[in-house]
Amino acid sequence: MKEALEQIRQTASQLIAAADSEKAVDELRVRFLGKKGELTGILKQMGKLSAEERPVVGALANQVREEIDERIRARMKELANAALTARLAGETIDVTLPGKRPEQGGLHPFHLVLNDFKDIFLGMGFDVVSGPEVELDHYNFEMLTIPKTHPARDTQDTFYITENILLRTQTSGMQIRTMEKRKPPIRIIAPGRVYRSDAVDATHSPIFHQIEGLVVDEGITFSDLKGTLEVFIKKLYGPDTKVRFRPHHFPYTEPSAEMDMSCFKCGGKGCSMCKGEGWIEILGCGMVHPKVLENCGIDSEKYTGYAFGIGLERVVMMRYGIDDMRLLYENDLRFLKQFN
Ligand code: DAH
Repeated sequence: MKEALEQIRQTASQLIAAADSEKAVDELRVRFLGKKGELTGILKQMGKLSAEERPVVGALANQVREEIDERIRARMKELANAALTARLAGETIDVTLPGKRPEQGGLHPFHLVLNDFKDIFLGMGFDVVSGPEVELDHYNFEMLTIPKTHPARDTQDTFYITENILLRTQTSGMQIRTMEKRKPPIRIIAPGRVYRSDAVDATHSPIFHQIEGLVVDEGITFSDLKGTLEVFIKKLYGPDTKVRFRPHHFPYTEPSAEMDMSCFKCGGKGCSMCKGEGWIEILGCGMVHPKVLENCGIDSEKYTGYAFGIGLERVVMMRYGIDDMRLLYENDLRFLKQFN
């Protein structure tokens, strides 16, 4: 029996050392130490031994069991460690590989230019205000002295929602909304979307953007208007830019003017951008009509004011040399990425 035990000890130790998976080791545990295993088989025969032999063989059997048990645990641990090492090796990260940069968003050219607008006007003491795009006829036209029969309505193809509600065709209604709420001194700009039933092409869009400006205070004159707008244009396009004012007509200003700036591309010599003129029309402006002030409950004997309206698209296109307005709306990343 002793030999049989020694035999088991030897075979088990060899097989365990050779086992190459945790499953194989477990099978060996069952084979040697299990209820029907080889060692148990031997122990069952202990009864046949003499009283002297029994404790000796018993002790040996225990020793063999412990030894096999110990080897099995050790081998299991070894295999588990090896498996872990192999897995870690497979998952190695090469820190020298160039990283993937996460895509970063940026500001649309509208916002880049609008932020400059805001900086310039905030620096001159203006507030930025905003109002509804779905507007009452009352604010968009009536209070600006453009009654239903006025020919000025023909030039602005309006999207009507009902007879009295429309998509605003201009930001000028913000003059009225502001004067109804605030008392002079007033200094505001009001940027926002406006809508006109225009077909889309390189220079037109049914949705575009304007920035309205309004100043009302005691003693405001046309030279305040000229000075402020000239400073603004020079800050936006550079100190060498020149401006000129041409008489014009708007129902809500008197006198009214349009302001041109010297072509940013040719500096005034004449090129394809300014169609050989050397000048580019940039905004409409004028002294707020006394009737408009009175409409808003402001004493036109005491207060005067000026107003202006600029199309943002034009300014953005000239700033970056963009020749097709549609590029600004299509959200093509190849285009937008150039600005950030
Ligand atoms: N509302 C005019 C337009 O859409 C622009 C404009 C002209 C605004 C003169 C003004 C102004 O405030 O005084 O064409």
